[in-house]
Amino acid sequence: MAQAGTIAPAKAGGFGATERKDRWWVGPLATGLGFGAFIVYSTFRAFYNGQYELGMGAMTGPESLKNHSYMISPFYSPLIPLGFLPRALAWVSPALLILWAPAGFRVTCYYYRKAYYRAFFLDPVACTVGEPSSYCGFRRGHDYKGETRLLIFQNLHRYFLYLALLFLVFLAYDVGLACRWPGGFGVSVGSLVMAANVTLLTLYCTSCHSFRHVVGGRRDRFSSTGSGRVAYRLWTIATALNKHHMLWAWLSLFSVGFTDFYIWLVASGTITDIKLI
Ligand code: FES
Repeated sequence: MAQAGTIAPAKAGGFGATERKDRWWVGPLATGLGFGAFIVYSTFRAFYNGQYELGMGAMTGPESLKNHSYMISPFYSPLIPLGFLPRALAWVSPALLILWAPAGFRVTCYYYRKAYYRAFFLDPVACTVGEPSSYCGFRRGHDYKGETRLLIFQNLHRYFLYLALLFLVFLAYDVGLACRWPGGFGVSVGSLVMAANVTLLTLYCTSCHSFRHVVGGRRDRFSSTGSGRVAYRLWTIATALNKHHMLWAWLSLFSVGFTDFYIWLVASGTITDIKLI
């Protein structure tokens, strides 16, 4: 017997066939535009290979900024010197050597999977909405086979999490460098932007489903020992953060792009980074 308030699955029909009356297409469209814009921007910056660092000790950038604290874009940190590469690979930037790790973390994220399967592959485009029978010239069946075959790599998510946690250490260290000026400790708008970025990335990582599993998901119940209480506390925090994982995913995505953009503007001399303290 049909339940009141439920919506029947899309009957056989073309793409977009549905009985839904709400604006179901807003979510996939916003995801496609937002995530797509970030992919285009980050790819451009990874190949741009310039104006990603500044200040004391920077290997690149204008001399006029040598009295500034050291700042580096999150796309290029940790910075890997490219001296070992042959000439034929001169087009490779330091960002290209490291971005596979955070990119892999985002691509295999449980939330992003749902979002980009809908936005980019229309599979499904939304609940109870008809799917296209073919995509980019390929016929498509309707049998759900799980994340197997080509999609088996999605199971690597927990390993990408470990790498992402390591990257947080590098980015936090960068914030420390951004606060070390020739005259001693100092805080600028740029260092605050970098600090906000690593904070949002930390919230994104610690709200991860795999992180929640790592800190408390493997046990039937928590013991009352010291370690059990610590695990319970961590699991409680991760659970609270996990409820807003989508929010942290988007805020941290925006902050990474904005931090790179800000450092690009300062390193190129377009704006001056204002020292507050
Ligand atoms: S589930 Fe989204 S980062 Fe792990």
